[in-house]
Amino acid sequence: MAANRIDWTNGSLEKLDLETPRAKAEEIAAKFKKEIEQGKLPFCSMGYMPSLLHDLEGMEQFVRGFEHMLLLGIGGSALGARALQKAFFPQQDQPGHEGPWLWIADNVCPHTVEAYLEKLPVEKTLVVVVSKSGGTIETISQYFLVRQWMRKKLDDRWNDHFLFVTDSDNGFLREQANEHTVRSLEVPDNLGGRYSVLSAVGLIPAMFMGMDYASLVEGASSVLSSLAAPDLNGEKLSRHPAFELACWNAALMDNGYNELIFFSYIPQWAWFGQWFAQLWAESLGKQGKGSQPLPAVGATDQHSVNQMFLDGPRNKACLFLTCPALPEGMAFPDDIPEKFAYIKGKRFGELIHAEGLGTRMALSKNGVPLVELRMGEDNEEAAGNLMGLLMAATIFTGWIIGINPVDQPAVELGKRLAKARLGADGLEEEKGDLASFLKAERNEQEF
Ligand code: PA5
Repeated sequence: MAANRIDWTNGSLEKLDLETPRAKAEEIAAKFKKEIEQGKLPFCSMGYMPSLLHDLEGMEQFVRGFEHMLLLGIGGSALGARALQKAFFPQQDQPGHEGPWLWIADNVCPHTVEAYLEKLPVEKTLVVVVSKSGGTIETISQYFLVRQWMRKKLDDRWNDHFLFVTDSDNGFLREQANEHTVRSLEVPDNLGGRYSVLSAVGLIPAMFMGMDYASLVEGASSVLSSLAAPDLNGEKLSRHPAFELACWNAALMDNGYNELIFFSYIPQWAWFGQWFAQLWAESLGKQGKGSQPLPAVGATDQHSVNQMFLDGPRNKACLFLTCPALPEGMAFPDDIPEKFAYIKGKRFGELIHAEGLGTRMALSKNGVPLVELRMGEDNEEAAGNLMGLLMAATIFTGWIIGINPVDQPAVELGKRLAKARLGADGLEEEKGDLASFLKAERNEQEF
């Protein structure tokens, strides 16, 4: 594989205190090593991988025998699959596609669910329900509706059209798998949603789309294996690009850079920005710390949010994703008016590079600390490498800034309040709080 590179040239390194986070390398290496040994970082050690790859091989014929996959999941249980779909299965959004089709239902939208149930051919559809906890209401509520639809159409064969990806022992979905003999794959212990793309969570849809998922895993493993190795120490860690990225980010946060742009100049990889945004935000937004991820895609967002990046508040840094090896594209025709003569003799693919360079330089000139992640290729292996790098960088950043990057306590309140609103048992305090919130005198205006 052509090498992927981090280009620090425009990272404003001279303005940042990188020594303070770097000084934590020894301590963080020891903690990482210990957690690897305790099985707490499976995204990195990937001990589950040989048996998963074996299971996937055994399931390939079954899964790929369907024309439609309807994936029910939300957050980390859906975003990795969508990023892979947009990057490596773009044909589904292009004219003339004749299948297979992957549909990702990651919301509670009545229009969308009804459309799926009205239009999907039941006999040719596999429903994959993805939930680590097995009890997420957005996912499970869709499961109830889809199961009813399947039961009506297929009677007692409904369970043959389902596949669950969930915890091996716990949760409602696991109980359902046991009760109804539904095929299932496990999400390994300690592998939270946003770190789970390289488990069955992301690899089942990847396999369905015909992606080279083994290369995706290899790409991740090549950046993560030295971190999982028993000889990890402070010196080795301090040379690892994931740790360097973490030090850069921690130093930026310390300097008031509280927004982090993820600017993809690989158009089909735009959804990696959304995947990264969830990884970064849910992992690091704690105790008033972190930086707000801002996913953007070139060239589209040059005509949208880029003005704010360039000349808005000076609180933004940028991860800038490029790939010089993108296809050259079609040659422009000869009959191009004088006004546009500068593209004569060029190919369409040159635009994205020129625009990327222009934006990168403009951001740097405007004082935005920017690190370029330059991919050698835009294939599965490179994508795995990028995802592995970013997951490890997120963990290290969290540890450097002193928060736990694998929980998400603040989002629980909204979930409890929604359940209280729907009348779930218990939750008396939330019910009381809701009543006072709703009782407040309204201050409203018509528009
Ligand atoms: O990253 C996370 O941990 C979350 O975004 C979860 O993926 C999300 O809340 C869905 O959880 P579950 O997989 O338990 O349904």
